[in-house]
Amino acid sequence: MNKDVIIACDFGSTQECYDFLDKFKDLERKPFLKIGMELFYAAGPEIVRELKKRGFKIFLDLKLHDIPNTVKKAMKVLSNLDVDMVNVHASGTKEMMVAAKEGLTRADGSRPLLIAVTQLTSTSEAAMREQLLIDNPIDETIAHYAHNAMEAGLDGVVCSPLEAAKVKQVCGPDFITVTPGIRFADSAKDDQVRITTPALARELGSDFIVVGRPITAASDPVAAYQKCISEFLKDEEFIYNPSNFI
Ligand code: C5P
Repeated sequence: MNKDVIIACDFGSTQECYDFLDKFKDLERKPFLKIGMELFYAAGPEIVRELKKRGFKIFLDLKLHDIPNTVKKAMKVLSNLDVDMVNVHASGTKEMMVAAKEGLTRADGSRPLLIAVTQLTSTSEAAMREQLLIDNPIDETIAHYAHNAMEAGLDGVVCSPLEAAKVKQVCGPDFITVTPGIRFADSAKDDQVRITTPALARELGSDFIVVGRPITAASDPVAAYQKCISEFLKDEEFIYNPSNFI
């Protein structure tokens, strides 16, 4: 089974990120990292190249959402960075997701995993109804967006662990669920709304949990990461192998 903990490296500079990663240098296996907008916009593509060179797996979380042609061309550029996973917003339409996949696919047919954001885990059902004018229940909307992503040929979605089971039910067990909104039972919720613990995410069928502040802001980030690993993976075989997906 391919399951892993992905650390969200939400830092404002290359130095901050490297100082953080230094703490993990004695671990036998390098953590899977997520680079989001903050670090990518601050440090540029160079940090992705450098971290790949150092042997880290990278989920480049830029959540593309634009007209299909622009997304296709942007994905072509990201594909050349040799990242392991990238994403788009499912609300950009199936046409946009198909274009994203085309742009991402290299001449030899290989490509990073491509997943779609359904609804951000910071969005509540009330905000969807009142601000986005989406009246359907949040789990139905998410399952529908996930189905669109599957029809467009994507590998999976980003969703809350609370929606992972429904997504698997609609899209099948092999459709990947990448789930942020993870908190330890005793940690702060911050701005997240639809949250679970790593252990509950495992029970609910998440494939990858994305964990930011509970690790990055912990007094001992390595211990917090290891706690996530032991809660989420237990003694399971968890070696990530992209060829199992594509
Ligand atoms: O610090 P925290 O654990 O809340 O970080 C969660 C990470 O996952 C952030 O980088 C955030 O941008 C990302 N994310 C999310 N909800 C989504 C998609 C991505 O929280 N639906």
